[in-house]
This record gives sequence, C-alpha cells and structure tokens, in this order.
Amino acid sequence: ISDMLIDSFGRMHTYLRISLTERCNLRCQYCMPADGVDLTPTPHLLSQNEILRLANLFVNSGVDKIRLTGGEPTIRKDIEDICLHLSNLKGLKTLAITTNGITLARKLPKLKECGISSVNISLDTLVPAKFEFMTRRKGHERVLESINAALDLGYNPVKVNCVVMREFNDDEICDFVELTRDKPINVRFIEFMPFDGNVWNVKKLVPYSEMFDRVVKQFSNIKRLKDCATETAKNFKIDGYTGSVSFITSMTEHFCAGCNRLRLLADGNFKVCLFGPSEVSLRDPLRSGADDEELREIIGAAVKKKKASHAGMFDIAKTVNRPMIHIGG
Ligand code: GTP
Ligand code: 5AD
Ligand code: SF4
Repeated sequence: ISDMLIDSFGRMHTYLRISLTERCNLRCQYCMPADGVDLTPTPHLLSQNEILRLANLFVNSGVDKIRLTGGEPTIRKDIEDICLHLSNLKGLKTLAITTNGITLARKLPKLKECGISSVNISLDTLVPAKFEFMTRRKGHERVLESINAALDLGYNPVKVNCVVMREFNDDEICDFVELTRDKPINVRFIEFMPFDGNVWNVKKLVPYSEMFDRVVKQFSNIKRLKDCATETAKNFKIDGYTGSVSFITSMTEHFCAGCNRLRLLADGNFKVCLFGPSEVSLRDPLRSGADDEELREIIGAAVKKKKASHAGMFDIAKTVNRPMIHIGG
C-alpha cells in the first residue's frame, strides 16, 4: 500500500463511490435540473473493464469499501457482472449501493448473490402525491416494496435516505422516525445541499438543530449512538425501537475532518470532494495506454490537492459544480 490515498491533512481514503450511469428513472427536483442534463455519449462513459481496472487499482492502494451510485445504478445493464467482479477483489470488505428503489425489489436477490453487502434507499416522503411532485414520476409504492424486500433479504440495517426540505416534507420527520419502531431501518435525515441546477435556497434548508428539536419534542427518549470518525451521519436511537435515526449535517456541521471518500464518475472523471469544480479524467490516460504507475501518480496528485473542508454552504452554492445526478452523492 502506497501513500497515494493519503491527503495533505493525513486523511486516508478507504471509501470509493463509483457512479455507474448518469441516467435515472426518476427526476428528483433536488438532483436533476428541471430542463434535464447533458448526457455523456456512451462511448465516453467508462466500460465495465475500465471500471474494474480502476477499482482494482484503488483497492490495491487501500480502498476497502465501494459504493455504487449514479444516476440510478440499477439501470446499468451489466451491474450484476460489475458487482460479481468487484466483490471478488481481495481487500474489499463492503460493496454497497445507493438506489432510488424503483426496480430494486426485483433486482436485489440477484444483486445480493453478486455481493452487494449493504443497501441505502432514497425516500423523501410517505405521501404518494408528494412523491410524484418531487420525483416528477410515479413509483412510491415500488420504493416501499423495495425497502421491504431489502429487509426480507436480511439487510440490517436498511438505510433510508430522506432529504429534508422546508414546506415539502419537514412535517413528516416524526412519521419517518416511526418507521424505525419495529424494523431494522436506519432513517437518515439529510440537509438539502446545493448542486448545479437544483435551485438551492437557504430557506428550503432545514438545519440539523431544527430537525432534531422536532424529533425530541415527540420522542424525548432519544439516545445518541456512537458514530465512527469517517461517517457522514450522526446516529441516534429511540429507546425501545428496533431501528435507528440519523442526521447528515453536510451544511450546518460538516464532517470533512473525517472524510475518507473519493469519487469516480461515470465519465471517468475523478473527484476528491463532493463540492468544488476540481476533477481530473482517469479515462483519458487509461485510454491512451497509461500503466498503473502513471495512473497512481495522477490519482495521488489529485488526492494531495484535496481541501481541508468544503467552502461553506453559501460559497458552495455559488461555485460551479455539476448536477447531483452526475456526481451520485
Ligand atoms: P454509508 O456508507 O451507509 O454511511 O452511506 P453514505 O452516507 O456514505 O452514502 P449515501 O449514498 O447513502 O449518501 C447519503 C447522503 O450523504 C447523501 O446526501 C450524500 O450526498 C451525502 N454524502 C455522502 N458522502 C458525502 C461526503 O463525502 N460529503 C458530504 N458533504 N456529503 C456526503
Ligand atoms: N441534497 C442532499 N442530498 C441529496 N441527495 C441527492 N441530492 C441531494 C441534495 N441536493 C441524496 C439522494 C440520495 C443520496 C445519494 O444523495 O437522496 O439518497
Ligand atoms: Fe469530504 Fe468534501 Fe464531503 Fe467534506 S464536503 S466530507 S471533504 S467530500
């Protein structure tokens, strides 16, 4: 193991998020701009072999967790093959997926066989009509089915990601907490973050402190759990409930000091931070015949340039980034 993945602040990056596609079967307002996004022409997207070559390089350099994202990762036709190969990489401990759950109930049994070890499902509302408003598509029932399918297959916990937006779903926070009563669900309330085209506005952001107040009012028996230093979430549990409740406070209490995450986008760009414009292509050197050592140098140089933290929500909102659908969270 080289120091390729250690940045200038001593953070070791052991978690790689790989976006498998820019496409999605939903159109969530906070993720996809209203007028759509430019899709990278297919020949410019990483092939399965290219993904595996790069993943292998990262795992050999110390990555032990890979998360598949998108767009919607389950849309990619060769996802099962990709999972099978990734889960066989020596040194990889976790192969996770973040999905919108639209087709997951059907696909998850096979994905589990291919090595998916943990599942995060996005669900922002328990009200079907609101789901259709936010996602600009139908499918609420199918997401609920997917959460149940994941529970039935023994995933524990099943994480449910809920982006909280004022006057959209902030009245549902306690209903979401109730999902944790009898089931090993980890509901995660996420502060709304700015990305290109998502019309972020601080008024729509419900800060962690306010979300927490609402929960405590109804559930005074809430207890803090341990969270690990590299985690995105602050974890809690309602006494006597099976599942748990977390907050992802990217905006009001960032967790950059413990960041262990790197990103490989579907077009082969490598991103060392979710925010900020800094990206470098790994696809281009790969396609012009770079050997592992040359790729290691490019990756290492990018990691060394990673900033201590993001620039704060107002600066992020002004910086050119990409739409979330291209980054995968
Ligand atoms: P676990 O591995 O299960 O803890 O999931 P995760 O939180 O790493 O990934 P997930 O895809 O479920 O993302 C949940 C939320 O956290 C999304 O809103 C992501 O955009 C956000 N998130 C994930 N990684 C980072 C990060 O490195 N920085 C920030 N600021 N937010 C992140
Ligand atoms: N702010 C916060 N979270 C977001 N996600 C997508 N867009 C945003 C945003 N603007 C979440 C999705 C998914 C995860 C990858 O990121 O809901 O669960
Ligand atoms: Fe890491 Fe950047 Fe996220 Fe901070 S904002 S936790 S540095 S990816």
